[in-house]
Amino acid sequence: MVANQSSKRTIKIGLLGFGVVGQGVWKHLTADRSALEQRLGVKLELARAAVSDLSKKRDVRVAKSKLTDDPQTIVDDPSIDIVCELIGGTKLARKLTLDALKAGKIVVSANKALICDYGEEIFACARKHGTHYFFEASVAGGIPIIKTLREGLVANRFPLIYGILNGTSNYILTRMEREGLSFEDIVGDARALGYVEADESLDLDGWDAAHKAVILAYLAHGRWVKLKDMLVEGIRDITQHDITYARELGYKIKLLAVITRDFDSNRLSVRLHPALIPAREMMASVDEVFNGISLTGDVVGTTLLVGRGAGQDATASAVISDIADAVHALLGAPAPIICEEDAEVYADLGAGVELASPSDIHASYYLRLRVKDQPGVLAKITEVLSEQGVSIASMIQHEELSSRSATLLFTTHESNEHVMGETLKRLKKLKTVIDAPFLLRIFES
Ligand code: NDP
Ligand code: HSE
Repeated sequence: MVANQSSKRTIKIGLLGFGVVGQGVWKHLTADRSALEQRLGVKLELARAAVSDLSKKRDVRVAKSKLTDDPQTIVDDPSIDIVCELIGGTKLARKLTLDALKAGKIVVSANKALICDYGEEIFACARKHGTHYFFEASVAGGIPIIKTLREGLVANRFPLIYGILNGTSNYILTRMEREGLSFEDIVGDARALGYVEADESLDLDGWDAAHKAVILAYLAHGRWVKLKDMLVEGIRDITQHDITYARELGYKIKLLAVITRDFDSNRLSVRLHPALIPAREMMASVDEVFNGISLTGDVVGTTLLVGRGAGQDATASAVISDIADAVHALLGAPAPIICEEDAEVYADLGAGVELASPSDIHASYYLRLRVKDQPGVLAKITEVLSEQGVSIASMIQHEELSSRSATLLFTTHESNEHVMGETLKRLKKLKTVIDAPFLLRIFES
């Protein structure tokens, strides 16, 4: 797009939120503005940013007059064209987003929790008011997964999408594995690096990655899946025992989102849980804050995308890419091939899809039990497994002489959630089993 300097339109951008991501966007838009203006053929003006605490010290310097503690004034400012919602949470963010869309502004967001809970309403609002809602930064940080899924891979249907969608968990698991540290030892570093959500449970209990899985499932399959209908487990209970034994067996532990669709039965399954994955797979080498997404399309085959899944700069890159799309839209460029406003495209994708229940999951399993170290304990446990029809693939015992206890680690041949659930209930009741039994799934793609 070519325009001479004087005829260039000025596009005004308002940021709701000036935290980790907001400051990243401000920093890079300021530093790289002329290159971006050149590419887009417009002038870009960072109009204002909203914060909750005006007195807080900021890493990115900005004139005081540019900050406000009233985000509604940005939404209501008729001169602002693009609003970036980088506040997080769902209550205020939803109101501000809907108000901005109703005012005809384009909204750019990194807020996966909001999209997961209110995506349907927000997309409909954008549609109704003839504007757009862009959300590339909401899934997998800097990886352009949404563009890839909707545009680059538009020829495909997706029987399998799986991957690592939470940078914080992956960072913690990687350091536990490399340094032999505990979960608690590392979480503080993840906070300091700006990876962790304000509500830490989102990262540590799997909800953040589940939100992202819901968004990907909608984009690939046209169906909004409710979190209550999904299996969602986080990484808090993983110990060095699990990591070490997984390694001995040739696996690594990763927090995985798994989205499968069987196109014959038209059943969709979306789940999120830590899993043992073969160490030889490329996905197992996706470490630290990186995310990895494997997309198996019926035309392209399998494609793996890897990149930084969290943090200021990677996320700012995705937000600025959406700002660029928003500028194109404001200049009258045709909409992308598929966008969130294409209700009919998504209705068609999701036609007749049935949601599989978490109890339908079939897998091999990893089981950890802490037991009293006394005669007959192992026999009793294997008896329960045998009666439940669970076939043992491997077993190892670690004795803890000081507490006269032992940790038993099993892997099983293929079983299913229902059988394993019943098995755990029975094992838990045994007097010789000390702590609640701990279970992980083994995922082989
Ligand atoms: P932060 O907590 O760092 O920033 C939130 C910002 O919103 C802060 O500037 C805060 O103000 C401001 N804010 C909060 N409440 C209000 C309010 N009531 N009125 C005005 N301002 C308010 O969060 P992040 O930047 O990390 O995350 C922002 C969004 O981006 C979230 O949706 C998150 O899930 C998403 N995201 C984050 C990534 C990351 O790596 N951090 C990666 C991808 C997505 P103040 O500074 O004064 O406290
Ligand atoms: N807290 C999120 C993560 C930020 O760790 O992945 C990126 O969405």
